[in-house]
Amino acid sequence: MGKDVIVACDFPNKEQTLAFLEQFTGRKPFVKIGMELFYAEGPDVVREIKARGHKIFLDLKLHDIPNTVKSAMRVLTDLGVDIINVHAAGTKAMMAAALEGLTREDGSRPLLIAVTQLTSTDQKAMEEDLWIEKPLPDVVMHYAQCTKEAGLDGVVCSPLEAKAVHGACGEGFLTVTPGVRFAESAAGDQKRIMTPAQARIEGCDYIVVGRPITRAEDPVAAYERCCREYIGE
Ligand code: C5P
Repeated sequence: MGKDVIVACDFPNKEQTLAFLEQFTGRKPFVKIGMELFYAEGPDVVREIKARGHKIFLDLKLHDIPNTVKSAMRVLTDLGVDIINVHAAGTKAMMAAALEGLTREDGSRPLLIAVTQLTSTDQKAMEEDLWIEKPLPDVVMHYAQCTKEAGLDGVVCSPLEAKAVHGACGEGFLTVTPGVRFAESAAGDQKRIMTPAQARIEGCDYIVVGRPITRAEDPVAAYERCCREYIGE
């Protein structure tokens, strides 16, 4: 695993998602399924995309009491996804419970990663709304370290943080990074962005790319360009 482009399939329903994926006749993209599609269609959409041969990152960002998260993960692990996530803010106990719930009887499990601070949270919101009065980069690093201590496989972070996370948590600790844009394309609501080629230099293990591919005039060409720039193939 590692060094792959994950396409964020932020579509409202199964029809649009499958129509989008059917355009890819060569390499099958690694697909991210988020809350919108999962809540609209339920687990069947995961099974269907999986059956078509795609790897899946199920981006549901679980955050609840440890027992509830463990039970939810026990159900989700049967879907056979490749990566799944929680919020690191749920505490080390919650992350450890998630890991336990995910682990199948034979010891196998999907990769489990944690969101540190959402990229939509800035210093002001963190201080005023969350009452966390520390510099945001320190908070991200602290959450990454807690994630590692809880035994998880990595974090979702900004590509700008990937090097520091690897420095603190080790090269084998996964950095899965959204906020990727082609040099000439619009940033949209993403603020801290990088190109696929820069993300490669920063050592990001996976890049998550949505709109630059899903809204491109030619999504397959945009995906292939992304792979060329990031993976080099
Ligand atoms: O369209 P775009 O490339 O901005 O999509 C990025 C994807 O990554 C979206 O599905 C978004 O929900 C997700 N994401 C993010 N920032 C995070 C966590 C997830 O942009 N911190």
